[in-house]
Amino acid sequence: MKRLFMQEVATRDGFQNEKTFIDTQDKIALIDELSLCGYARIEVTSFTSPKAIPALRDAEAVMAGIRRQPGVEYTVLVPNVRGAERALGCGIDEANLVMSVSEPHNRSNLRMTREQSFAQLTDVIDVIGQGPVAVNVSLSTVFGCPMQGEVAADEVLGWVDRFAERGVRGVTLCDTTGMAYPSQVQALSRQVRERFPHLQLTLHFHNTRGMALANTLGALEAGIDRFDASLGGLGGCPYAPGASGNVCMEDLVHMLDLMGYQTGIDLDRVLAASARLPGLIGHQTPSQILKAGRRLDLHPIPEHVQTLSKQVVNAERG
Ligand code: COA
Ligand code: ZN
Repeated sequence: MKRLFMQEVATRDGFQNEKTFIDTQDKIALIDELSLCGYARIEVTSFTSPKAIPALRDAEAVMAGIRRQPGVEYTVLVPNVRGAERALGCGIDEANLVMSVSEPHNRSNLRMTREQSFAQLTDVIDVIGQGPVAVNVSLSTVFGCPMQGEVAADEVLGWVDRFAERGVRGVTLCDTTGMAYPSQVQALSRQVRERFPHLQLTLHFHNTRGMALANTLGALEAGIDRFDASLGGLGGCPYAPGASGNVCMEDLVHMLDLMGYQTGIDLDRVLAASARLPGLIGHQTPSQILKAGRRLDLHPIPEHVQTLSKQVVNAERG
């Protein structure tokens, strides 16, 4: 059955949004746990301005403290050259650059026009160069923007094209605020795949309107094999009104496993890690599987049902 690549974003997309600062040692312990879960990639943290994202101001210490596992790529979010230089000093495998395809969202998230962002990111790409560190670009709001509304597919393809020309390895199509719907996802994923077959393509859904699992099915039908998701369904964009969590990793893997996809993920370990989250962040998470258990986690038949069945059998025997 088809191999899929799962990419964990909880410690970046999730933690950037938490009100209380999560202790550096707790972050490191969690990432070490996640490194044993079978992920293709873990987005560890971001090298952003500590004023903009105070929750991740310990990026260097986290990168220095984690125990890296072979086969897992460690990526970080990088907004500018300053961030790239900091990240390169930490021996990252990949830099994940970010800009929005919507002008108002880019201005509120990054305080720049899209053209300014593009210029800055091309500088970042030049700094990283053609060395061992790969570059991925996450394009926000590709399926709709909470301020602008619809985002045209041609607009998205145009930005992918500009970054592809710069030689990036991969592009992530982000549904930053859960505006995507399955048929739209299928159509756009197909267009990007057909036009840029050499690009490593990732889909990144938020479950803001409950459509993230359905959108994943849309992407699978278009041949997508790489997905971001977050432990416990943490996540959100601090600059997008009403944004909520990423698609929950354990809910997604549970569904994909049942459908026969090879995710490479050890769901028991993921669930154990997810169960520790409320202790770290001080609140419950939206994880469904943590609450309900897996589909075949059976419950004992209640005593009164057993008594009832005995009575029925006795009555039938006369
Ligand atoms: N790392 C550390 N510090 C940084 C930095 C970086 N990558 N980039 C900028 N700074 C510092 C500057 O040194 C400056 O510090 P000072 O006030 O002490 O002099 C301050 O941040 C402002 O710098 P400036 O260049 O004016 O940037 P800005 O305030 O316009 O911020 C971003 C631009 C993009 C760096 C900032 O808004 C940011 O990091 N945003 C995070 C976006 C994000 O991650 N969103 C969620 C993910 S989608
Ligand atoms: Zn996101």
